[in-house]
Amino acid sequence: MGGSTAIAIAIWIFSVLHQTVGALSDGGCDLSQGQWVYDTSYPLYTSKDCPFIWKEFDCQKNGRPDNEYLKYRWQPTSCQTPRFSGSRFLESFRGKRILFVGDSLSMNQWQSLTCMLYKSVQAKYSINRIGGLSIFSFPAYDVSIVLSRNAYLVDTVPMRNGNVLMLDSITNGSYWRTFDVIVFNTWHWWLHTGNKQPWTFVRYGRNNVHRDMNRMAAYEKALNTWARWVDSSVDTDKTKIFFQGVSPDHVNPKEWDDDAIHLESCSGQRKPVLGTQYPGGSHPAEVVLERVLRTMSKPVHLLNVTRLSQLRKDGHPSTYGFAGHRGMDCTHWCLPGVPDTWNQLLFAALFQGS
Ligand SMILES: *[C@@H]1O[C@H](CO)[C@@H](O)[C@H](O)[C@H]1NC(C)=O
Ligand SMILES: *[C@@H]1O[C@H](CO)[C@@H](O)[C@H](O)[C@H]1NC(C)=O
Repeated sequence: MGGSTAIAIAIWIFSVLHQTVGALSDGGCDLSQGQWVYDTSYPLYTSKDCPFIWKEFDCQKNGRPDNEYLKYRWQPTSCQTPRFSGSRFLESFRGKRILFVGDSLSMNQWQSLTCMLYKSVQAKYSINRIGGLSIFSFPAYDVSIVLSRNAYLVDTVPMRNGNVLMLDSITNGSYWRTFDVIVFNTWHWWLHTGNKQPWTFVRYGRNNVHRDMNRMAAYEKALNTWARWVDSSVDTDKTKIFFQGVSPDHVNPKEWDDDAIHLESCSGQRKPVLGTQYPGGSHPAEVVLERVLRTMSKPVHLLNVTRLSQLRKDGHPSTYGFAGHRGMDCTHWCLPGVPDTWNQLLFAALFQGS
């Protein structure tokens, strides 16, 4: 074989290999596996870049003394997280409406997305509250990003003897499905009891009314109701469906530190868990959620944020949420912070199919 043929073959082999690797890193990359790395170019925005940021999330303003937690970037093991482009996001969603529906962790992600978009384009915005909705709009792009607070997704209905949590019913769905993109989430409220529990009875089936039941079982029933509703009633050619994975809290330091007697929940945590594994293992609610999602026939994209968030024991407001007035918050996330990465995953799913 002549030298030029050999070179041509070598070039051909190289280009085939290169395409294969390229295809894997674009479409086939698992963004949920990775670790947090220190990156001085972070955060993606500051609270000054986001004039509408809620006090609850603005940990720096609330006096959090350390700022290293702002400088970690999620590094997937086998590829890069794509760069977030607010102008690309808004251009391609011109005339469209995006809905976040779920508990206050949805609010956390919704707020993060509006900050990231505003930092990118600095366009005129408006914020309106109508009924239970918060509507953030960029008129120049005709895009709205809407938040609907709905802790359980399934219905809570006031009745004579108290509120009933209806595990079989999801009447708000007929409104939700008019949106172009929906990011669902529910978990956080399922374990609440006592005066943090906003219902008196829980009902499923026709005559199964209970004072209480196993909460993981209730969670799974509600998710199955939601899944059946998506499969039967959502036109996923028109509406893209996402599920925000379970957001972990860090109230139990034993999960990440064997010698945790000296720690009070997430208080004083200044660094992520380094490496790719969380010592506390997988989250029980994540296991339930993934089991339900596997039964579905319609395409639903899981934003698999649980592990990457588990590693961020340093990312919560602790005593620097609610402007320091409401005790320890090891559930929500400071902004800028971890939900910005959730939105990078959302961006990747919308624009790169990964
Ligand atoms: C979500 O991510 C975790 C951690 O990488 C992984 O173990 C799990 O299988 C992922 N779940 C799905 C449904 O991809
Ligand atoms: C529908 O959602 C709104 C808030 O988003 C809530 O106030 C209302 O109770 C929900 N409807 C039912 C039947 O749960």
